[in-house]
Amino acid sequence: MAKYEDVFQRSLKQPDNFWAEAAEGISWYRKWDKVLDDDTPPFYRWFTGGMMNTCYNAVDRHVENGRADQVAIIYDSPVTDTIRKITYGQLQQQVAAFAGALKEQGVTMGDTVIIYMPMIPEAAVAMLACARLGAIHSVVFGGFAAHELAIRIDHAQPKVLITASGAIEGKKVLAYKPLIDKAIEMADHKPKKCIIYQRPFIKADLHEGRDLDWQELAGASEPADCVPVSATHPLYILYTSGTTGTPKGVMRDNGGHAVALHWSMKNVYNLDSGDVFWSASDVGWVVGHSYIVYGPLLKGCTSVFYEGKPVGTPDPGAFWRVISQHGVKVLFTAPTAFRAIKKEDPNGEYCKKYNLKNFEALYLAGERLDPDTYHWACDLLDRPVIDHWWQTETGWAIVANCRGIEEFPVKPGSPTKPVPGYDVRILDPTGKELGPNQEGNVVIKLPLPPGTLPSLWRDEEKFVKSYMSTFKGYYETSDGGYRDEDGYFYIMGRMDDVINIAGHRLSTGAMEEVVSGHPDVAECAVIGAQDALKGEIPIGFIILKAGVDRDFAEIEKELVQMVRDEIGPIACYKESILASRLPKTRSGKILRGTMRAIANGRQYRMPSTIDDPTILDEIIALLSTKRAAK
Ligand code: COA
Ligand code: AMP
Repeated sequence: MAKYEDVFQRSLKQPDNFWAEAAEGISWYRKWDKVLDDDTPPFYRWFTGGMMNTCYNAVDRHVENGRADQVAIIYDSPVTDTIRKITYGQLQQQVAAFAGALKEQGVTMGDTVIIYMPMIPEAAVAMLACARLGAIHSVVFGGFAAHELAIRIDHAQPKVLITASGAIEGKKVLAYKPLIDKAIEMADHKPKKCIIYQRPFIKADLHEGRDLDWQELAGASEPADCVPVSATHPLYILYTSGTTGTPKGVMRDNGGHAVALHWSMKNVYNLDSGDVFWSASDVGWVVGHSYIVYGPLLKGCTSVFYEGKPVGTPDPGAFWRVISQHGVKVLFTAPTAFRAIKKEDPNGEYCKKYNLKNFEALYLAGERLDPDTYHWACDLLDRPVIDHWWQTETGWAIVANCRGIEEFPVKPGSPTKPVPGYDVRILDPTGKELGPNQEGNVVIKLPLPPGTLPSLWRDEEKFVKSYMSTFKGYYETSDGGYRDEDGYFYIMGRMDDVINIAGHRLSTGAMEEVVSGHPDVAECAVIGAQDALKGEIPIGFIILKAGVDRDFAEIEKELVQMVRDEIGPIACYKESILASRLPKTRSGKILRGTMRAIANGRQYRMPSTIDDPTILDEIIALLSTKRAAK
């Protein structure tokens, strides 16, 4: 039997043995009683009874095992013209000191802490310090506005909020403090303390009694030790977009997460301890959690923290400069980053200036890898270009070309085969399994492997309703796709109202909530339309209230500002179309799927439930007028 097939079959047929063996890669204070606890499906738990600490595994044990002088984090920040290297020994000191500071502020096992930080190593120090104490962190991406942060503060109920005085986004300096103050003012829950890391280029004013200076606190604290936690104790909550304005708090445990990520470093990415891994994402997304911070550190790799963009900081050679300067072996980013580079440097002239001798492979995820981008990257780099599919919920790859096990020939457009641990199937809407080349709902047969979400934070009901109810015994990914006759999977896109903008997951439902709050808007539908650079961008179809006769261009500007203020610039909401009606079913449900198909030039079937089919002609005409105007 081929190597992959053997490993894959073993992972499904003997999950206990398989994951117990993988768990040997982690240090435990106490071994588990049960590898897979399946007493209360669909709530599965891994390594119940086991005691460990994620921070110990990611930092301290490497120091104890002779890696104290190895670089753990390379901070490379073209926007501040800084390169700083932090060894495992230094990281241990910094994390222990900051954990001590948190402890002195009353943070203890089970408390929640929100982290709103730019891409600086202190973000990792804050995350690891929480893990050290058994506190549960929730990192919020810096591109979200105060209102979104307030929603997360109210749901996570943090004792402490950790932030920085500001960030540099491309060429713009962003002050974080006014945004933080506004979010706390908007939220019902008030964190007791805010800890602010002052950056040299922008100083934050501190509120007497609430705000504390990171540098002062960490300099004066008593270092804290790692606290043993149970394997099932939550490590973090990461909010992600669902179909409504209320984000889902994806929960991650400690034990299963550490085992799965450690295992994935070799088996999925083919990395060993000591290798340099660069995940060009942000700590605010799941890729940042798993593969900027936890995965590489659990494995004893060197992780690159990059505070910059693929282009413009300063040029489209930025990625090649970082790879060559730091000896990066594997780069992980989103296809959008490559499309941005390709747009500015189509012939790859910048790439030719650098020596990429240590560079072994490029991994892409976060959105569908279109064959054009795949071929361009392959031709440019002359190295494996590996697409892999996953979600915030799973925390690590579901389908990938596992180069550490057995490398398969790539079929452009396919992330290849299921990763061991994931029993991926294609079902029709009635739950019937579909055969090769038949497109349907991509689902995963339960149980999900370690490292995936055990539930949603404080919302077990929503967990069951969102993921476990449509197809009994399966996790619903909400992606559509198919498998071919060789067992390669093709992921074609979301089947719900979640869209993927530049590899970032956002909810059109959340945008609709904001847009419909405009005083002149009677009704709206926001859909994702294809975009050559960002994959998808949102477009709003707007019905104005009767009697409104203002210039629509003015209203459009106000809508753009409202979405920026309420959700954040990252939503990239820039286009609205004035319509007189929206296509609906006879029961009044807006036919967003049909509108999406029209906007993306895909074939669609006239829904049998449509109230008035002539509206679709109007939508087609409006879109083509808008495109022509662009
Ligand atoms: N904090 C605050 N604002 C942020 C931000 C952050 N961390 N990240 C992005 N924004 C802002 C941007 O400044 C921009 O604001 P603007 O409308 O005022 O210009 C807006 O959000 C949209 O950002 P982005 O989608 O990043 O667009 P861009 O035009 O600045 O850059 C790319 C385009 C392609 C270079 C960029 O999208 C990119 O690097 N994509 C790769 C995505 C990626 O790595 N995804 C990781 C998931 S795996
Ligand atoms: P996120 O939770 O932000 O990681 O977004 C997850 C969603 O991104 C998935 O449900 C997919 O729709 C999409 N996605 C991620 N990786 C891929 C990929 N390699 N191919 C196709 N879609 C992807």
